Amino acid sequence: MASHSVVSLFFIYISLFSSLCLADDPFVSYEFVLSYITASPLGVPQQVIAINGHFPGPVINVTTNNNVVVNVRNKLDEDLLITWAGIQQRRSSWQDGVLGTNCPIPPKWNWTYQFQVKDQIGSFFYFPSLNFQRASGGYGGFIINNRDIIPIPFATPDGDITILIGDWYTRNHTALRRELNGGKNLGMPDGVLINGKGPYRYNTTLVPDGIDYETIDVHPGKTYRIRVHNVGVSTSLNFRIQNHNLLLAETEGSYTVQQNYTSLDIHVGQSYSFLVTMDQNASSDYYIVASARFVNESLWQRVTGVGILHYSNSKGKASGPLPDPPNDQFDKTFSMNQARSIRWNVSASGARPNPQGSFRYGSINVTDIYVLKNKPPVTINGKLRTTLSGISFVNPATPIRLADQFKVKGVYKLDFPNRPITGLPKMETSVINGTYRGFMEIILQNNETKVQSYHMSGYAFFVVGMDYGEWTENSRGTYNKWDGIARTTTQVFPGAWTAILISLDNVGVWNLRTENLDSWYLGQETYVRVVNPEETNKTELPMPDNALFCGSLSRLQKPEDISSATSILGSRSKLFMILVTMIYVVISIFC
Ligand SMILES: *[C@@H]1O[C@H](CO)[C@@H](O)[C@H](O)[C@H]1NC(C)=O
Ligand SMILES: *[C@@H]1O[C@H](CO)[C@@H](O)[C@H](O)[C@H]1NC(C)=O
Ligand SMILES: *[C@@H]1O[C@H](CO)[C@@H](O)[C@H](O)[C@H]1NC(C)=O
Ligand SMILES: *[C@@H]1O[C@H](CO)[C@@H](O)[C@H](O)[C@H]1NC(C)=O
Ligand SMILES: *[C@@H]1O[C@H](CO)[C@@H](O)[C@H](O)[C@H]1NC(C)=O
Ligand SMILES: *[C@@H]1O[C@H](CO)[C@@H](O)[C@H](O)[C@H]1NC(C)=O
Ligand SMILES: *[C@@H]1O[C@H](CO)[C@@H](O)[C@H](O)[C@H]1NC(C)=O
Ligand SMILES: *[C@@H]1O[C@H](CO)[C@@H](O)[C@H](O)[C@H]1NC(C)=O
Ligand SMILES: *[C@@H]1O[C@H](CO)[C@@H](O)[C@H](O)[C@H]1NC(C)=O
Ligand SMILES: *[C@@H]1O[C@H](CO)[C@@H](O)[C@H](O)[C@H]1NC(C)=O
Ligand SMILES: *[C@@H]1O[C@H](CO)[C@@H](O)[C@H](O)[C@H]1NC(C)=O
Ligand SMILES: *[C@@H]1O[C@H](CO)[C@@H](O)[C@H](O)[C@H]1NC(C)=O
Repeated sequence: MASHSVVSLFFIYISLFSSLCLADDPFVSYEFVLSYITASPLGVPQQVIAINGHFPGPVINVTTNNNVVVNVRNKLDEDLLITWAGIQQRRSSWQDGVLGTNCPIPPKWNWTYQFQVKDQIGSFFYFPSLNFQRASGGYGGFIINNRDIIPIPFATPDGDITILIGDWYTRNHTALRRELNGGKNLGMPDGVLINGKGPYRYNTTLVPDGIDYETIDVHPGKTYRIRVHNVGVSTSLNFRIQNHNLLLAETEGSYTVQQNYTSLDIHVGQSYSFLVTMDQNASSDYYIVASARFVNESLWQRVTGVGILHYSNSKGKASGPLPDPPNDQFDKTFSMNQARSIRWNVSASGARPNPQGSFRYGSINVTDIYVLKNKPPVTINGKLRTTLSGISFVNPATPIRLADQFKVKGVYKLDFPNRPITGLPKMETSVINGTYRGFMEIILQNNETKVQSYHMSGYAFFVVGMDYGEWTENSRGTYNKWDGIARTTTQVFPGAWTAILISLDNVGVWNLRTENLDSWYLGQETYVRVVNPEETNKTELPMPDNALFCGSLSRLQKPEDISSATSILGSRSKLFMILVTMIYVVISIFC
């Protein structure tokens, strides 16, 4: 299209759409093709899951209230679902991409997700939720920018950089799955990747030659927003950049009180934004390090991720030892104190949780209390399983939300206990009965020997307390009732508890799980079902037209449902996309 006609169309659209600012939020579309590619991040060729041929996948970059459309084409040889961790899916658990709400997308099929990122800002990531696939990749960053009229509590950064860190095995997800199915432990990972790449060769003994490493290019004097996500299997990582302070600014959708850290522990599934100023003299490049936490360093030294921060005026390569990790290998108190130091900036504007119309969560009365306690893996019916409160979750063949929609009986039990069951652990599809508009207190008690992080879909929760030992009623006296951070994934230290508060204002069926992939795969999850007792179509969006059917509803599935769903969104002309982009530009200018 010639540029002058673009300009004239542009003005037509200004007049057409400037009146629609409040009514229609713009659409932003993505096309995702998931397939295997061969990559050798640690020098060993293996099959990884790529999106559009790339590992990691593209960063989704949208603005508060945008409607996000992602057409996912499954070119793997197994079922697929993508979950958008931390995206709240207001009124639409249909789009959450976990087995309790969605039927899987079979191989060779397309499915189009469509959801609005309502009232959210922040740093998140997406990943494939089934079959241990995240251990082979398929993940990417997800940014929600503030609307222009909403100020951010810091100067606009000079750049925006996404860094995905995670432990990594040279065995692929099918091999890892087979080991778990066989009752084995996965053992030590083979390395830590930074943006899908292996370590820089900082030590010729530890790191083999020929490994491709990540380089982040920066300019001196500039300040960058660096969004760091732990997308790994199960290892807590310490993140640091040599000679640079990390000014913490945001975590999973909440602006934090801004504080400098020389390093921060990032647990599996967690996301943080740091503002990093390039204030060094560039006498050399600088190391970016992600190293395993709470492990025997002499055994784990090859399990370290190392990338390079390269100033445009750098005078040489990074060399010498890596910056030191926290000097407390087996003492988790430092890490817990660091976690407690992360506070919500209660005066920052912008989209943020507002339970029951009050920003003061500390004064709301709790209506439901659940103590969820994990245990080290156990054998149930001859299988290695993990449990939460003595129950190892079994995914039903028919998703819970779909079963409700079609009134299918007997799919699940609404009987998840308020306190851990005593007696033998069992395998059940046991779900938490959430009270719509209730205020739920959940105490996560970690009886395992490893840090676990817990995530809840559909909500940001307030992290109000954590401490060692068993939680008791008296522990409430230590809660932070004022500026506890609202986030979507919290760590629970071994032999310790973490308390969270959740305002149950989002109708749907919401996954509550550990993000540690092996524990999750073996059953450490449940769902919270939140139903509005009042008959109304206002508190939940209708089932999407392209919903897939499976289990006892598979007779409803028509093959053509898929192609029609695709033709609506996948085969629109380029012109359509140009128009969408223009509408988007116009709306962002005028609204
Ligand atoms: C995973 O690894 C196994 C054994 O190493 C191999 O047989 C299999 O083809 C691989 N699977 C995929 C999907 O790459
Ligand atoms: C909190 O946000 C306010 C408002 O944007 C900002 O002025 C202030 O600097 C922030 N405070 C801290 C400690 O980060
Ligand atoms: C995201 O998109 C905005 C425009 O909407 C752009 O200014 C920004 O640089 C993009 N961020 C990234 C990380 O691509
Ligand atoms: C590299 O690592 C090995 C094994 O830990 C260590 O003995 C050696 O001192 C390291 N080399 C350098 C140059 O740091
Ligand atoms: C953080 O550290 C930088 C130097 O790296 C300093 O300029 C800044 O004032 C510090 N900010 C806070 C809030 O401590
Ligand atoms: C640059 O900084 C390093 C480390 O802080 C210091 O050793 C070096 O002397 C400095 N070089 C210059 C040219 O200022
Ligand atoms: C760490 O591992 C090394 C090598 O196996 C062993 O000698 C050492 O005792 C271990 N350290 C601790 C504190 O367990
Ligand atoms: C909370 O409960 C207390 C005691 O039952 C009651 O006095 C108070 O009004 C309640 N607060 C709110 C906000 O409902
Ligand atoms: C679930 O909770 C609601 C109140 O929120 C209650 O009316 C209902 O009976 C409960 N259902 C079950 C099966 O316990
Ligand atoms: C696990 O629970 C048992 C029984 O309550 C307790 O004795 C033990 O100390 C706990 N271990 C951890 C690591 O929390
Ligand atoms: C909700 O929507 C469905 C389908 O559009 C309709 O059949 C039903 O009557 C509506 N219910 C209410 C309470 O409005
Ligand atoms: C999936 O989408 C692609 C591109 O949008 C299209 O070419 C293809 O026919 C679709 N496949 C199916 C099975 O609908």
